Formats: sequence, structure tokens, C-alpha cells
Amino acid sequence: MWSSRWLFVLAAAGSAVGLGNIWKFPYITGENGGGAFVLIYLICVAFVGIPIMMAEVMIGREGRQSPINTMRALVQQHHRSPAWVLIGWMGVLAGFLILSYYTVIAGWALYYILQMAQGTFDGATGAVAESTFNDFLSDPWRLVFWQTLFMVMTVWIIARGVIKGLESAIRWFMPLLFVLLIVLLGYAVTTDGFQQGWDFMFAFHWEDVSGQTVLVAMGQAFFTLSLGMGAIMAYGAYVPSNASITSTVSIIAILDTLVAVAAGLAIFPIVFANGLEPGQGPGLMFVTIPLAFGQMPLGALFGTLFFLLVSFAAITSAISISEPALAYLVETYNAKRGRVAITLGVISWVLGLGTVFSFNIWADRHVVGDLTFFDFVDYVSQNVMLPLGGMLIALFGAWALPKTVIGSQLGLQEGWVNVVWKVVCGVIAPLGVLVVFVATVIG
Ligand code: PHE
Repeated sequence: MWSSRWLFVLAAAGSAVGLGNIWKFPYITGENGGGAFVLIYLICVAFVGIPIMMAEVMIGREGRQSPINTMRALVQQHHRSPAWVLIGWMGVLAGFLILSYYTVIAGWALYYILQMAQGTFDGATGAVAESTFNDFLSDPWRLVFWQTLFMVMTVWIIARGVIKGLESAIRWFMPLLFVLLIVLLGYAVTTDGFQQGWDFMFAFHWEDVSGQTVLVAMGQAFFTLSLGMGAIMAYGAYVPSNASITSTVSIIAILDTLVAVAAGLAIFPIVFANGLEPGQGPGLMFVTIPLAFGQMPLGALFGTLFFLLVSFAAITSAISISEPALAYLVETYNAKRGRVAITLGVISWVLGLGTVFSFNIWADRHVVGDLTFFDFVDYVSQNVMLPLGGMLIALFGAWALPKTVIGSQLGLQEGWVNVVWKVVCGVIAPLGVLVVFVATVIG
């Protein structure tokens, strides 16, 4: 059990705040034209993300086991179809896919700690920052080296048990990360690209919205809040019974959103001030942020610290991505944590090689359409599996759990609570996901 509700907030925020906020949010915002994407993303967080996160915590705390076994227990106890247990299995699969590329990108952040410390970017131009990154990407062995290092660190931590290490790490790095983002933001405000960066993020144009934009924005909401695959459900299993789900979840979602928006507002002005492309893809943060630090006094120091914090943020997320599978195997087969951790690590490391090669030797190989292996794994996990998992979790949390369970989990037994819950979590959230899926298929 978490020793207090705050520890859960820290752990869940540690899971939520990660590469999704600082690396992914800015680059997919860039690729999807900015303003409209950001607005739709915020709507998804509020109306779909928050209710589904509540449902995950509720289900996890009710079952108090790993997601697969929690679903099994609840299905038996309340005489529901065993098919619901698929939620748990799909989550484990999504976790493998996500972890496989997450460790590759987190490896890039590790490499950048070193680069910043060596002063590679001091006074560098946009062209230098871009070519440094492209040279790095073109060398598969260097990428594999950093991917492996990050994977080993993750496995080492999860093998020893998460809870203790997590607490001290998060208590320090979250506030520090905020401070550094504010430093970057302060710098961004002084560049002459600030207005343009601001407009890019917040000026809404209807003509930019397609089914695809909405699907990607919704996928991002799921990814950044760690929803739809059981990560939050697994952490929810350790939440004390008297903690309020509504307020806890709201705090986590607000923190996560603030970090993403701050990262965007720090990055886009630098893009425009240096004549770079907002839609340049996965490398966006690895070009703009070193560039910005390279222009600042003490930039090498701050830059080193920044990538250190990003790596920390990534590791606390990676831990939570592996938790559903790890907890299931340990709990069900009484297996040794260390062995399970190593096995999981090896499997997703091998899968991750596909992502490494997508940036060099397989860059021209397409799995479907014009998607590389990385694009494909990323698209399927983020835009299909997480929303689908989330939709099922919402339906289960609203319609399959008895009224008394919902009431006691939400801490209020009044009839209206149950009605509000059924409308928000049982109708609005899953319907939102469904509509987006259908709209995308129709085009
Ligand atoms: N939320 C994490 C991030 O934004 C990624 C993540 C996805 C973590 C799914 C757990 C589960 O980086």
C-alpha cells in the first residue's frame, strides 16, 4: 500500500509525466498543425481522460491485485462475463509495444546528457543542432548502446521493487523539472519567435481538423495520462481506502497537462526564432532544446540537468509501463521479481531493435502505408490499443460494477452520484472514443 494519498499522486504523476509530455506532445502538435490539435487534446483530457483515470483507480483499488487478476476477481465476484479479462491482457501487450520504443527514445535523452555536458551545443546554430541529431540517428549501434543502457537501468529498478525508490526520486525531480521548464520558458519568451509559437499552439482553425487529427489527439491524451493499459489500475491497487479518487485524479491530470503545455510553449518559439520546422517529427525536442541551452549563459550546466530530468521522468514512466505484466507474473506464478524483470526487459529490448532500425537501416521500409516499424508500433499502441482499452475500462467501471461498489469507491452513497458517474464514465467517455474511431474510419 502507498503510505499516503500523496505518495500515490507522486507515483501516478511519475507515470504520467514522461516522454509523452516533453518529447511527444510538442512533435505531434507540430505534425498536426498546432492549435486545433491542442484544443482537441485538452478536451479529450477533460472529458475522456479524467473519467477513465478515475475508473482505473476505482477498479484497481476494488480488486487490489495486478490488472489481469483484478479483472478476474471482479468478474467472478459480480458474475460478469470472463471476456472483460481481455482488458488486462491487451494492456500487457500494449505495455510491451510501448516499452519497446520508449526505451529507445529515453536512450536518446541519456545520450544528450553527455552531449550537453561536453558543450557540443554551446553557441551552435540550428543547422549544427540538426546535423548532430541526424548523425546520431544514422548510427544504429550507438542507438542500441543507449537503448540497452536505459533498459538495464529500468530492469534493475523494477527488479528491486518500485515503491521505495520511486518516492524519493519523484519528490525531487518533479519540482526540479518544473523549474527547468520555467527557465526554458523564460528564454522562449525573450526570443522573437514567441508570438508565433504562441499562435501556433493556441490559434484554432477549423479547417485543420480531420478525423485523423482527433484520433491522434485522443491517443495522445491516453498516452500522456498512462491510461488504457492498466498502468494506473496497477498503481490504484495500492491506494489507501480513504483517499478521494476525484480530487487525486484531478491533481494528476492537471500536473500532467501543465508540463505538456509548458514544454510546447518552450519549444515552438525556438522553432520559429531559428527558422526550423514545427512538423519535423520525433527529433523536434532534441534539436530545439539543445539549441536554446546553447544560447544561454550556463547553458551546458542547465542543459545537462534538463536531459537528466527528462531521463528520470522517462524511467518513472517506464517502470509503470512494465508493472501490469510484472505484477501479474509475480503474483500468479510466485516467480522471482528479478527473473521476471529480466525476461520482460529482454523481450521488449528485442522488439525495440525494430524502432532503432526505423531511423536508419530500415528507414525506407514500410510496414503498412508509409509507416515505418516505429511509426506502426507507436500508432497501433497509442491510437488503437490504449483508446480501446480505455473505452472498455470505462464501460466496466460504470456498468459492470454494482452501485454499492461505485458509491463506496467514490465515497458517497447518494443516488445522484451513481447517475452522474454512469453518464460521465458510462456514456460520455466511451461514446467519445467510439465517435472518434468511427470518424477516423469514415475519413
Ligand atoms: N504517460 C507516459 C508519458 O507520457 C507514458 C506511459 C504510457 C506510461 C502508458 C504508462 C502507460 O511519457
